Amino acid sequence: MRKKIVAGNWKMNMNLQEGIDLAKELQEMLTAEKPNCDVVICTPFIHLASIAQFLNQDLIGLGAENCADKDKGAYTGEVSAEMVKSTGAKYVIIGHSERREYYHETPEILKEKVLLALQKGLKVIFCIGESLAEREAGKQNEVVKAELEGSVFNLTAEEFRNIVIAYEPIWAIGTGKTATAEQAEEIHAYIRSTVAERYGNEVAEQTSILYGGSCKASNAPELFAKPDIDGGLIGGASLKAADFKGIIDAWK
Ligand code: PGA
Repeated sequence: MRKKIVAGNWKMNMNLQEGIDLAKELQEMLTAEKPNCDVVICTPFIHLASIAQFLNQDLIGLGAENCADKDKGAYTGEVSAEMVKSTGAKYVIIGHSERREYYHETPEILKEKVLLALQKGLKVIFCIGESLAEREAGKQNEVVKAELEGSVFNLTAEEFRNIVIAYEPIWAIGTGKTATAEQAEEIHAYIRSTVAERYGNEVAEQTSILYGGSCKASNAPELFAKPDIDGGLIGGASLKAADFKGIIDAWK
């Protein structure tokens, strides 16, 4: 059985103290009531080392939201995959649409980031998803396939086992507009079929594919009930422990 995962993406929210408090509150809640899925929180870089000190990563995995496309050296302001790993973090989000759009991260750059992250022993949550214009033009399948081909289908099957895919339609991120469960299932099934074409059925069946984009406690049960939706990547609703727990509980 492939893993069911609910992952939080805090984005550029929470100062250090607020972030520590949120992680502690979530840990208390989940210690009291064990989740039925893997739970991950992806935080700003500066939170990682402090949160790793107290987080029980058997209960909640810790991840970064990005890492550099270079190994080390004179890249002022960048944070390498090795640095992320050295904090105790186990995951990194790569390819989020906000980074593709605002920081001009191309498929080639993302490919480098993925390779470095895997080399350093991190698991990668790799994000893909179409814009509203692309969906209206019926190009969503083409877009997600190209994103996979451009940055992760170069990996060996062994390496690919450390990839979690997050399908996040750009028009649903932070907008309150969720893809319907049917829309999401249709493209998740398509994504799984492209993984099967590249790596075979066994790898495709083991690959977790998360949905992201205005996922909340009220719509998570319907989304997660679909056969090819293995959990969620959660932005806004991961910033309050009770809201995030509400989504985790959709697996109960
Ligand atoms: P949202 O963000 O849940 O706030 O829509 C999801 C994401 O961008 O990962």
